Amino acid sequence: MNEFRSVVLGTGSALPRQVVTNKDLEARVDTSDEWIQQRTGITQRYIAGEGETTVSLGEAAARRALEAAGLETADIDLVIVATATPDNTFPASATQIQRRLGITHGFAFDIQAVCSGFVYAMTTADLYLKAGMARRALVIGAETFSRIIDWSDRTTCVLFGDGAGALVLERQEAIAGEGAGVLIARLRADGSHGDKLFVDGGPSSTGTVGRLRMEGREVFKHAVGMITDVVEDSLGALSISAEEIDWFVPHQANRRIIEASAKKLGIPLGKVVVTVDRHGNTSAASIPLAIDHAVRDGRIKPGDLVLLEAMGGGFTWGAVVVRW
Ligand code: UT7
Repeated sequence: MNEFRSVVLGTGSALPRQVVTNKDLEARVDTSDEWIQQRTGITQRYIAGEGETTVSLGEAAARRALEAAGLETADIDLVIVATATPDNTFPASATQIQRRLGITHGFAFDIQAVCSGFVYAMTTADLYLKAGMARRALVIGAETFSRIIDWSDRTTCVLFGDGAGALVLERQEAIAGEGAGVLIARLRADGSHGDKLFVDGGPSSTGTVGRLRMEGREVFKHAVGMITDVVEDSLGALSISAEEIDWFVPHQANRRIIEASAKKLGIPLGKVVVTVDRHGNTSAASIPLAIDHAVRDGRIKPGDLVLLEAMGGGFTWGAVVVRW
């Protein structure tokens, strides 16, 4: 029996021009390169400068993904942008990117699930493609968290960075159980943790953008359990063991969370794609950025079994398994 799958045709990413090292931050807040590296694994991050925004970074990542896929903008009929830092409250970043790409057909919208945004966006795109409502989707994670950071708060300002990544997905017919494409997605949310990672403003509450606030230790406490639970649920539903995973691409929040999750899942560190050291936590952009790096340096190849997972504000979390 045949079925429809969402197959990855190409990937792309974009980073701002400016690199900010831990040493640079030592001059801004009471912190040290040693503390940041020891607690997070981060050595540097990219910070958006003048003219660089979520939409401009998302557009650049999308153009690279289209080029890698060998497609024209006209081939795309669905654009989904995962972001918690849109250029404007509305219109959606997705329609702004659509406009920059000259796409006037199909449909486009944003998804807001903070750091889990890309996993939510991949899942959503997969469902639209499988249902036949679209043929080719641009799924973008793009963020400029530097614009909502409290730069005087050392407990958060050292953690985040800006950037964007994009994947092109195509609806393809496949023999059930065989071939490339998204194999499974599992999403979760538990709003009772909303006060552990949030922005203290918004259009309807304060009329301001607000600043990011986080109880880091509380988030850390839940992260590994939530991540491994949803991953084990996804692998179990596919009857796949962790040993069969070729590449594990986790959300890049903290090297300690990534390594503890991989260990608990039984995935060797050599199969884990890590970019948090160079990019910091880029929220919804972190997974597609890491994927694009691992595709371009030759690690992720056609036929590979790739596991994605994320956990973040809300709390929201989820996992996606893709055959490349
Ligand atoms: O992507 C969305 C999900 N977000 C996350 O996954 C983040 C999860 N949380 C974390 O990654 C970690 O909790 C942090 C990296 C944020 C913090 O690491 P931690 O090991 O949990 O440290 P802590 O918050 O327990 O702080 C330890 C100490 C404190 O000092 P005292 O109270 O022990 O004297 C902090 O004040 O480190 C201090 N501290 C700092 N020191 C130097 C906090 N931030 C800094 C800093 N530089 N930047």
